[in-house]
Amino acid sequence: MAAPIFFLLPLGFLFITATSQGQKNISLANSLTPTSKSSWLSPSGIFAFGFYQRGNGYYVGVFLPGTSNKTVVWTYNRDNPPLPSNSTLHFDSSGRIVLSSAQAQDTYVATPSDTTAAASMLDSGNFVLYNSNQVIIWQSFDTPTDTILGGQRLLASQELHSSASVTDPSTGLFLVIMQLDGVLALYPDGTPFTAAYGYWDSGTPNNGPNVTLHLEDDGFLYLLKPPGVYLANFTSQGLPKEDMIYRATIDPDGLFRLYSLNISRKDDWSVVWLATTDGCSPKGICGLNMFCANMDLNPQCLCLPGFATVRDGNGTAGCERNFTAESCKTMDSTTRYNIQPVPSTIWEDATYSTLTSLTSEECVAACQQDCNCEAVTYSDQSCNKQKLPLRFGRRVVGGNSNSLLYIKVGDAPSGEGGRNGLVQKDNDKHTRRDILIAVASSIAFAIVMLAVSGIIVHKNRAWVYEMLPKDGFLRTIEDVAPRSYTFEDLKKVTGNFSEEIGKGAFGTVYKGTLMRNLHGSKVVAVKKLEKISSEGESEFQAEVKTIGKTHHRNLVRLLGYCHDGPNRLLVYEYMSNGSLADLLFKDEKQASWDVKMRIALHIVRGLLYLHEECETQIIHCDIKPQNILIDDNMQAKISDFGLSKLLKPDQTNTTTGIRGTRGYVAPEWHKNLPVTVKADIYSFGIVLLEIICCRRSVDWSLPEEEALLEELVYNRFQAGELDKLVDYQTIDKKQLERTVSVALWCTLEEPSLRPSMRKVLLMLEGTVDVPIPPSPTSFLSTI
Ligand SMILES: *[C@@H]1O[C@H](CO)[C@@H](O)[C@H](O)[C@H]1NC(C)=O
Ligand SMILES: *[C@@H]1O[C@H](CO)[C@@H](O)[C@H](O)[C@H]1NC(C)=O
Ligand SMILES: *[C@@H]1O[C@H](CO)[C@@H](O)[C@H](O)[C@H]1NC(C)=O
Ligand SMILES: *[C@@H]1O[C@H](CO)[C@@H](O)[C@H](O)[C@H]1NC(C)=O
Ligand SMILES: *[C@@H]1O[C@H](CO)[C@@H](O)[C@H](O)[C@H]1NC(C)=O
Ligand SMILES: *[C@@H]1O[C@H](CO)[C@@H](O)[C@H](O)[C@H]1NC(C)=O
Ligand SMILES: *[C@@H]1O[C@H](CO)[C@@H](O)[C@H](O)[C@H]1NC(C)=O
Ligand SMILES: *[C@@H]1O[C@H](CO)[C@@H](O)[C@H](O)[C@H]1NC(C)=O
Repeated sequence: MAAPIFFLLPLGFLFITATSQGQKNISLANSLTPTSKSSWLSPSGIFAFGFYQRGNGYYVGVFLPGTSNKTVVWTYNRDNPPLPSNSTLHFDSSGRIVLSSAQAQDTYVATPSDTTAAASMLDSGNFVLYNSNQVIIWQSFDTPTDTILGGQRLLASQELHSSASVTDPSTGLFLVIMQLDGVLALYPDGTPFTAAYGYWDSGTPNNGPNVTLHLEDDGFLYLLKPPGVYLANFTSQGLPKEDMIYRATIDPDGLFRLYSLNISRKDDWSVVWLATTDGCSPKGICGLNMFCANMDLNPQCLCLPGFATVRDGNGTAGCERNFTAESCKTMDSTTRYNIQPVPSTIWEDATYSTLTSLTSEECVAACQQDCNCEAVTYSDQSCNKQKLPLRFGRRVVGGNSNSLLYIKVGDAPSGEGGRNGLVQKDNDKHTRRDILIAVASSIAFAIVMLAVSGIIVHKNRAWVYEMLPKDGFLRTIEDVAPRSYTFEDLKKVTGNFSEEIGKGAFGTVYKGTLMRNLHGSKVVAVKKLEKISSEGESEFQAEVKTIGKTHHRNLVRLLGYCHDGPNRLLVYEYMSNGSLADLLFKDEKQASWDVKMRIALHIVRGLLYLHEECETQIIHCDIKPQNILIDDNMQAKISDFGLSKLLKPDQTNTTTGIRGTRGYVAPEWHKNLPVTVKADIYSFGIVLLEIICCRRSVDWSLPEEEALLEELVYNRFQAGELDKLVDYQTIDKKQLERTVSVALWCTLEEPSLRPSMRKVLLMLEGTVDVPIPPSPTSFLSTI
């Protein structure tokens, strides 16, 4: 090679070693292969462009051939599969750099806009193409991969992506971006560029779109806002320059480091600066359902309790439950899971439902009750339900100790070895056998639980939402079937029916006091049925039996009955706080939004029980605020259920020509169509609207266009003016919108379009999305 030495240093690169072995310009019609001549060197021989080896394959890029493992600073098409050894790189006579391999079609390593006259591997580490006017028309510095070198910049909105591993240059898990607001920030790949996901930033916001990251050849790394403001100096100016190479790289572990190398010493890279020293901070450094913990400054990935590393996985894939999480809908979920706390960890916030004002015990219980809930985070009385997988977990030391994650774990004997979730790889056979045992034992357990009567299940549930009253008296009453009383008994109990507390569709209700030997007394409500058919004794017995079997905390409890000659009476628990109607329409001080929403959920649960969970399906037929009673714990309970069959046929005409109450009855009543549970759902929808707005569904004292609540709400909803319905400030806008939408779905004219009570519950809880309700008379869409 007799070509005269002609140095072209377009980026002000000053450093030249005397003993240059490299060529300056790469001549046309020149080829490289991985096995023979594999690269073109820079004049100093420090940098090379060409094939480098990783594993059994090859990549094309810029690297430092003299370093151990050939440090790579740029790679062409890093996400393509490695190249076979018979690939070729050809700088052809028309100036194109063509990569040919058996695997794929020929590709051009660079596609400049002009015709290439020459190429050069510069001593800065920049591989450049020139046109015939010696102007650079393409350079590797313009498309950095995971590294910038001295003299290189990271322009606004440019990103560096880490490599998958030291042996795999393909795109890895982390990136650094020069944001358009002037912030340099690190994120896990594939997440939004928001503070919630970033794990480090330069703290230089609001500096506009022209800020760039600079690395000078003396190792000075800084953010520059044109025309000359140094926003952040990560290193200082004037580090040793002679014989030194600097590079800033986002490494596979997610840390952004500035390295230096003394080329005359032939030793290894040393770290000059790094963005954060916390190896656990890169979100996603551990796989799914894992969290990162610093052990002696070494980040280590641990599985959640009850989880094991994905089998045949390599750690990055994360952990999964080591038992089969059967659909909990087939069995009572409370019998299948324990909940274990995982203290001092933080996770990505992927909450699908938030419950507020709960104690941590209530929060745990709420998750246990919810099939979709697999974990909850709890802090500041806020209970956030989570689904798997959980991401970005890490252990925090000290901080945020009032935030806690609880995770459902299988009900197998809770673990010893894996208690702390240390990653362990089980012998396959062992694991499989253990899973069998776990499944078999949990099925057996479930069967035992089912065999035990529903009362216990009921009590578990009651515990979940509220403490059972402490006095044993109530408990003993509740545990037995309704008692039979004589008319004389009940005369005594009610003081000869002296204190009337209500009048309903079925008769008059009196207050009474049941005396009970050692346990003292209990206030009850005695309902004297007046309008029921006198024939059909067995029917009365059957209904009482049915009602007596309903055990639900959101249903008024039947304690006893009297079937004595012509007299029919029912004895119920007494509800001290009146009815929902009093609360909504009478009380001076309006109930708070939270209280009202809780009451709505109580009604839903009670109705869900009547419709789907009790032995005989019960259609209430007369859901209205007067029939929702409230006890001294502000627990709402549905009353008067199970009685509709007892009405005399002629009594069905008493109110509106149909059973039920004007304003609440479903349209199908009027149309002589079969009445199903969907009629209750309609009535519930109306009640829900009344709960939301605190007014009656029909109020002719208002202007005509506001008299019908359902119509008014729909119009406001369509106009996006829900705030006009309620005192808006104190209410979560999303919850209001969701609740109104549910009510509108429930009050659709077409029964089949109305959701089931189960769906209503999921929608109100926020577990499933609520589609936009169609117009009330719509037949077109379904839910
Ligand atoms: C070179 O690679 C080997 C295996 O890939 C690794 O063990 C070694 O630490 C690497 N050396 C350097 C300096 O990166
Ligand atoms: C490259 O080698 C593979 C086998 O490793 C062979 O199938 C292919 O034909 C070869 N391609 C060329 C262009 O030699
Ligand atoms: C290198 O390429 C430049 C730009 O085309 C050209 O001006 C120069 O003469 C070339 N030098 C050599 C030694 O080929
Ligand atoms: C950013 O640079 C562009 C182009 O040089 C310029 O037009 C714009 O005004 C600059 N913006 C700021 C905020 O400096
Ligand atoms: C950052 O470096 C520049 C250039 O050396 C210097 O002028 C400036 O004062 C430095 N800023 C800080 C805050 O150190
Ligand atoms: C680089 O190494 C050479 C040889 O060991 C030494 O003389 C020189 O001081 C080193 N340069 C720096 C900046 O450490
Ligand atoms: C690690 O596991 C993931 C997912 O199972 C897989 O995609 C990846 O190729 C594996 N990596 C290695 C080096 O085995
Ligand atoms: C599941 O893992 C826990 C600990 O993580 C262990 O105690 C339990 O025995 C395991 N169950 C099975 C079925 O492997």
